[in-house]
Amino acid sequence: MLQARLSTPAAVHERGIAGLTYPLGLLMAEIGTCCDRSGGVDGARIAAALQAAVADPGFLPAEFRTPRAKCYARHTIASDLAGRFTLLSIVWAPGQFSPAHAHDAWCAHAVVDNALTETLFDFDATRHKAIPSAVSVREPGYACFAPAGLEQIHRLGNAGDVPAISLHAYGVESSRIGTHVNRLMDVAERDK
Ligand SMILES: [Fe+2]
Repeated sequence: MLQARLSTPAAVHERGIAGLTYPLGLLMAEIGTCCDRSGGVDGARIAAALQAAVADPGFLPAEFRTPRAKCYARHTIASDLAGRFTLLSIVWAPGQFSPAHAHDAWCAHAVVDNALTETLFDFDATRHKAIPSAVSVREPGYACFAPAGLEQIHRLGNAGDVPAISLHAYGVESSRIGTHVNRLMDVAERDK
């Protein structure tokens, strides 16, 4: 499935990421192509590429599936040589959640193993607070894209009792993942 949707191995070599293993190289090439659109990043196609990748049970090697005790584990899988984006896995042990955040870069993710719980928030511009609006369970295969800014404010995590894994692409180079992706938000209750 991934093979049918993504670029050919020859195209991967032409784009200078030949060192990546198949099908990771194809996914990186596809996301790179999505970054080169004249109208901006093709987010729907990036989400579709991640969705195709996670449909392959062998896509994510064991080294990118290990949790950490105190906080969800972020594993950098590959970085675009041009610095346009970085691909990561996040492993969520039971009870581990992100803080509520918007994004300073575009981001996309797909659920790999076991369900994640996502809380979505509206932005109250008067109070400069995030207001919870919905909670959804995201099953494996779910994928989405969000541009930079306040369009998507969310909190992701694992409310289950076994580790969950998600595959993420962020529109920054790898050295900026920890500082230029998540914009933490203050949360308030909705006015009655
Ligand atoms: Fe996020």
